[in-house]
Amino acid sequence: MPALLEVTGLRSGYGRNEVLHGVDLRVPPGAAVALLGSNGAGKTTLLKTIAGLVPAREGHVLLRGTPVERRPANARARAGLCLIPEGRGIFRRLTVRENLTMQVGRRHLNGTLEKATARFPRLGERMNQLAGTLSGGEQQMLALARALVTDPDVVLADELSVGLSPVIVDVIFEALAGLRAEGKSLLLVEQYVERAIGIADYVYILQKGEIVFVGEPSQCASGVVFARYLGASA
Ligand SMILES: Nc1ncnc2c1ncn2[C@@H]1O[C@H](COP(=O)(O)OP(=O)(O)OP(=O)(O)O)[C@@H](O)[C@H]1O
Ligand SMILES: [Mg+2]
Repeated sequence: MPALLEVTGLRSGYGRNEVLHGVDLRVPPGAAVALLGSNGAGKTTLLKTIAGLVPAREGHVLLRGTPVERRPANARARAGLCLIPEGRGIFRRLTVRENLTMQVGRRHLNGTLEKATARFPRLGERMNQLAGTLSGGEQQMLALARALVTDPDVVLADELSVGLSPVIVDVIFEALAGLRAEGKSLLLVEQYVERAIGIADYVYILQKGEIVFVGEPSQCASGVVFARYLGASA
């Protein structure tokens, strides 16, 4: 099956420091891909390069087979790519409602808010609250809800669950599963390796800017893979 999102030979970095040294990765339509790797491996850089926040130096980012690596981030967003960045990317001085509605036209407003509050009732109760005063978990729900209202084809999620309580992590992962059920594709960077693998169809491990493992979750079950590449005993 052709990939919805495909990355080939991707190189990028900052200044003289090349971080990604030729990355290949495929996200088939409707599939969830877990991207794992230790701190500093280049996971965030890969998501940002896909989204257009860090320029690609070499290689391609293909969306439905079309190269988009020279297009600006907003054009990629319109083409169906949605990055939920590390640190949430919400506007703290705007209300929950403003955060949710700023990216959609007036015509779609009602449907948008309903969709977001159906998924996250807690946000529905806090529409007029400033985003910066939400709890950490609620802020993460808002970040995810903002991604939902734009109706993307591919969601790139960078450590959504960081710093959240287990109950809220459950809510976030239920929402991710809901996105998949809607047929959206996911590329997930997660510190909770087991949870990410639980939702994933494919697992990639990035080490020092190179993909060192590609497989299905069942191939990770023995724990050997993690011990070898992530230094974990899981
Ligand atoms: N804006 C930047 N300017 C310069 N170097 C950067 C920048 N962002 C990241 N780096 C460097 O690029 C490398 C990869 O960082 P990146 O954030 O992609 O890793 P990561 O896999 O997401 O790590 P973590 O698990 O800690 O989030 C690191 O050595 C980091 O110091
Ligand atoms: Mg990161």
